[in-house]
Amino acid sequence: MIMSESNRIPDAPVDPMFLERWSPRAIAPRAITDQMVRSLFEAVRWAPSCFNEQPWFFAYAVSESGRAKIADVLVPQNQVWAAKAPLLMIIFARKNFAHNDNANAWHAFDAGAAWMSLALQAHRLGLVSHAMGGFDPEKAYSALGVDKEKYVALAAVAVGYYGDPAALPEPLRQREAPAHRVAMAEKLLVIQ
Ligand SMILES: Cc1cc2nc3c(=O)[nH]c(=O)nc-3n(C[C@H](O)[C@H](O)[C@H](O)COP(=O)(O)O)c2cc1C
Repeated sequence: MIMSESNRIPDAPVDPMFLERWSPRAIAPRAITDQMVRSLFEAVRWAPSCFNEQPWFFAYAVSESGRAKIADVLVPQNQVWAAKAPLLMIIFARKNFAHNDNANAWHAFDAGAAWMSLALQAHRLGLVSHAMGGFDPEKAYSALGVDKEKYVALAAVAVGYYGDPAALPEPLRQREAPAHRVAMAEKLLVIQ
């Protein structure tokens, strides 16, 4: 449905969802259901976290006015393709543990796990998701009313149905293909 899967050959057997999930920019300007939105955030909810603190905090929008606020926080290169997505969000993480107010060194690690849960749940729902580091964190705190002393803005995400790549401006249309990966061995160190 979304891609030719032939360019994603695994080095070892793996659940197909890991290969099938990718980050397209062609997202259809078509609404997703409330139930889908709830399922995405339910997947987030069950992500593991240090001390089970669940330090993630998702500011999201499905309404036109809300999406415009989040789209405004994105860099122009991301606005071009992401602004019309039916679900936009900024992922924040609480910097300190709630239980003792000490710095939580794993806040970003845990929020990353939560984002991946959302991405895989989106795939299971027949949706696509695309994370973005290209946004203005300062704008995010002020426009979305999030306390920057307490939370750090980590990423933006667009979610929706896969759209029409032909509608993308060049050169994004050219780049609309699943990315490759380096060989597994390059990322592993076997300790004997
Ligand atoms: C934290 C993070 C930040 C990213 N920032 C952007 C971005 O600002 N704009 C963009 O088009 N893609 C962005 N991406 C998408 C990556 O380029 C993409 O995930 C990567 O190339 C791997 O491709 P795949 O997700 O299709 O497997 C980002 C992804 C992550 C996880």
